[in-house]
Amino acid sequence: MERYIFNECVYLGKNARSCLPNEIKSRNFKKVFLVSDGSISKSGVLKKVTDVLESANIKYVEYLEVKPNPTVQNVKDGVKALKKSKADVIIAVGGGSVIDTAKAIAIITTNKAFSDVVSLDGNANTKNKCFPLIAMPTTAGTAAEVTINYVITDTDRKKKMVCVDPHDIPIMAVVDAELMATMPPSLTASTGMDALTHAMESLITKGATQFSDMFAMEAIRTIHKYLPIAYEHGDNLEAREKMAFAQYVVGMGFSNVGLGIVHSMAHPLGGRFDIAHGVANALLLSTVMKYNAESPSKPKFRLIAECFGFDTKKLSDDDCVKKVVSEVKKMSKKLNIPQTLTELGIKESDLDALSQDAYNDICTGGNPRETSVEDIKKLYKSLLK
Ligand SMILES: NC(=O)c1ccc[n+]([C@@H]2O[C@H](COP(=O)([O-])OP(=O)(O)OC[C@H]3O[C@@H](n4cnc5c(N)ncnc54)[C@H](O)[C@@H]3O)[C@@H](O)[C@H]2O)c1
Ligand SMILES: [Fe+2]
Repeated sequence: MERYIFNECVYLGKNARSCLPNEIKSRNFKKVFLVSDGSISKSGVLKKVTDVLESANIKYVEYLEVKPNPTVQNVKDGVKALKKSKADVIIAVGGGSVIDTAKAIAIITTNKAFSDVVSLDGNANTKNKCFPLIAMPTTAGTAAEVTINYVITDTDRKKKMVCVDPHDIPIMAVVDAELMATMPPSLTASTGMDALTHAMESLITKGATQFSDMFAMEAIRTIHKYLPIAYEHGDNLEAREKMAFAQYVVGMGFSNVGLGIVHSMAHPLGGRFDIAHGVANALLLSTVMKYNAESPSKPKFRLIAECFGFDTKKLSDDDCVKKVVSEVKKMSKKLNIPQTLTELGIKESDLDALSQDAYNDICTGGNPRETSVEDIKKLYKSLLK
């Protein structure tokens, strides 16, 4: 038996945000708690949403204190602000950091026993569905709007807590590519590579199914074609829409079947060194994919090679692995992703702690190859120079 959890409803495509007034009124919500962050507000993205709310006379209160790699404190402050606002629905407008913070606020509001936030780490045994939440992504990467996960940094333990809880899923996702069009090239690149990482890891993860493979392969095809265009021509709305679609679609898959050690290794780089999630994944992806090819998932590399447009009829499985690894490397270079951990300030003396954290990460269980702290350390070390 397989179980899949998705949003109740999703709006995709041009001007998707115009769905808000009808949805809010038909669900009988009276006041919105709008979660976002300062840069999204300054960039004019938030106004695209508040204009829609104002034109329909929908009341809202803003909470803009979320930081990238959001913290336990961001969540605690948000829970208090939501209570004070007397709102009856949350709308999160932002990247993974904003949506994840909103999810944690929504979970704690209906499950007070978890108010310390840190007890939500891992598989939290909450009893109630979260406070009503509508998620509107402004990056094309994390798919946090459709996943049953959220990631919060515990600054005391320097740990990115990956919280897995079906109760956290937003009732509705509004995936409107116009909210993503202001992303600068570097953010387009790193968040797009996060989406590619979701697609590749969820295709080869232990829990992969025919159903999730369908989402992952469509995402790999679309991201391979459109990420370079969105990177070079940020105003190309077709490329933005394709990326918005691809990152959402793969979210439907990976949220339900899991990931692997690219994510396990990216999380401590965020938790200990505040490195952006997409940058960490993009840097690790080709090296870790090569390592993971030595697993029962090796034949899946043929599918990835085909999604990249290679004719694989005359290729062996090993040839397919080589094609995939070199194509990912080529893509990340073209997108100007940092190629070494040294560029990000990581030193050899940091590797023991990073490797132990990565091994303990919740995503390690889904990795297609049995791994160890030593193997993970070797992988990090190979990326120092
Ligand atoms: N919940 C999940 O399933 C899941 C999956 C993967 C990653 N994550 C988490 O999501 C977080 C990363 O999210 P992210 O990669 O979307 O980045 P982010 O939300 O951290 O945003 C990065 C920066 O980009 C800015 N920004 C966002 N949208 C913009 C836009 N349209 N125009 C201009 N600037 C914009 C933000 O203000 C912020 O300063 C990490 O904490 C990661 O661990 C969660
Ligand atoms: Fe990710």
